Amino acid sequence: MSESKIKPLAAPPKHVAVIMDGNGRWAKARRRPRFMGHKAGVESVRAIVNSCVDYGVEVLTLFAFSSENWRRPEEEVGALMSLFATVLDLEVKKLHKSNVRLRIIGELSAFTPKMQKLIEKAERLTAGNSGLILVIAANYGGRWDVTQAAAKLARQVEQGELSAADISPEMMDGAMSLAELPEPDLFIRTGGEKRISNFLLWQLAYTELYFTDTLWPDFKGEAFEEAMLSFSQRQRRFGKTGDQIEQGRK
Ligand code: FPP
Repeated sequence: MSESKIKPLAAPPKHVAVIMDGNGRWAKARRRPRFMGHKAGVESVRAIVNSCVDYGVEVLTLFAFSSENWRRPEEEVGALMSLFATVLDLEVKKLHKSNVRLRIIGELSAFTPKMQKLIEKAERLTAGNSGLILVIAANYGGRWDVTQAAAKLARQVEQGELSAADISPEMMDGAMSLAELPEPDLFIRTGGEKRISNFLLWQLAYTELYFTDTLWPDFKGEAFEEAMLSFSQRQRRFGKTGDQIEQGRK
């Protein structure tokens, strides 16, 4: 555990999922190139990983690169790729020391063979760790995830291993990228936009949504504590009434 003064929560979220938005604007406000915003964003990644460990969060999923981000200027895509490579190479050793298990989700075949090797190596190094599970969504899209899960089940039907009539939401769960991990309890988007932007579409069905104007490079310490506090004050009903939830607590 890092030295922190966080107030422990009675029921912290098991899984926090984050869209880290606002790096470009953070850099622009300082008249720096956009890339500097992404670099500063890595500091916030470090801070939120430590805070999640302190709060006892089990899974943290970060949206690092969406399937649509390839449309950015070539220079920015290249800069982001080398930043990811550096993080995978250097940062993973520190994550390993902190007992963090790393998992990368997304359509990874689009990455260079060198990058794919780094991903594989990082996952292998941390596979036996029992602490926080850090999921990085890279070249990820929620629609892609649902589609690949449906295709996986369709192949099983084709091969006669499964009957179409038996396909259930639980089976879809098992075919999704986050299979066997709990669904996100808390979704955070920094940077002021109020969109899900093709992130975890299937998995966010009952997730508490939290939007903040704070730009990602500034989202550290107290800003994250505020999000956790907001989560702890919400009543999660999963379709039931407030009275039913209150009675269940007695
Ligand atoms: C969105 O901000 C951010 C990204 C597309 C990249 C996020 C990457 C990092 C924080 C660095 C590395 C992280 C990991 C986990 C390896 P934006 O560029 O859309 O900002 P803007 O809306 O202000 O333009």
